[in-house]
Amino acid sequence: MHPKDPIAVRNLFNSTASTYDILNDLFSFGLHRVWKKKLLQWINPSSGEYWLDLCCGTGDMAFSLAKLLGPKGHVLAIDIAEETLAVARKRSVYRENPSITWLQTDVVNTGLVSNSFDGAIMAYGLRNLYDPEAALEEIYRILKPGSKVGLLDFNRMVKGSQGECFQTFYLRRIVVPIASSFGLRDHYEYLEESLKTFLLGEEQERLALEVGFTKATYRKLAWGQMGALCLTV
Ligand SMILES: C[S@@+](CC[C@H](N)C(=O)[O-])C[C@H]1O[C@@H](n2cnc3c(N)ncnc32)[C@H](O)[C@@H]1O
Repeated sequence: MHPKDPIAVRNLFNSTASTYDILNDLFSFGLHRVWKKKLLQWINPSSGEYWLDLCCGTGDMAFSLAKLLGPKGHVLAIDIAEETLAVARKRSVYRENPSITWLQTDVVNTGLVSNSFDGAIMAYGLRNLYDPEAALEEIYRILKPGSKVGLLDFNRMVKGSQGECFQTFYLRRIVVPIASSFGLRDHYEYLEESLKTFLLGEEQERLALEVGFTKATYRKLAWGQMGALCLTV
């Protein structure tokens, strides 16, 4: 599958929706929760604000964010894949009144009103977008001046580095074989593919500044295996 084909990406996430959470926990040994928590600490949303969770998937980040924003705040959680949103909606039934609206739309072209949100997060979304630059422009447009944005994803390692060797080994020898036992080999082979064309941390910073963000800082996590781009509008 080509990472830049939006329909194929949507189909892929629709077909992994039911096992996505289990495999996420398995492959990261539950650590994705720690990295997501760290991202929220870095961007520090305030109670009562109106935030976006972009590429929300099954809703992990939206639930944590809604908790931080409190009863007066609100999360608009967006994803392009209807099946992942169906899982998120089901999960929200078991939560205590999370103030979240789930919306199926494309992050690259949301149709939302300009200058209307106090901040945005995106976990493991940017790498999967067919046009990351257009997505950053769209995020910039719909946020209020001074808003904070946090984007968490794999950190693309420099070719030939020790980190890259570990990443490749881990994806090929651990992730893909385990995914195969769930009948999802192709789906997880896509992960390595999507990393090949993903922007390096400093390229992400540069692109965000070109789009118009006033501040862009890329921070590494998990011994450099993950990275977070923190932006200010
Ligand atoms: C790897 S999952 C991440 C889900 C969740 N944020 C998490 O951290 O567990 C990537 C998500 O991005 C969504 N996605 C991909 N392209 C998108 C687009 N153009 N617009 C909105 N969502 C998109 C997929 O449907 C998928 O649910």
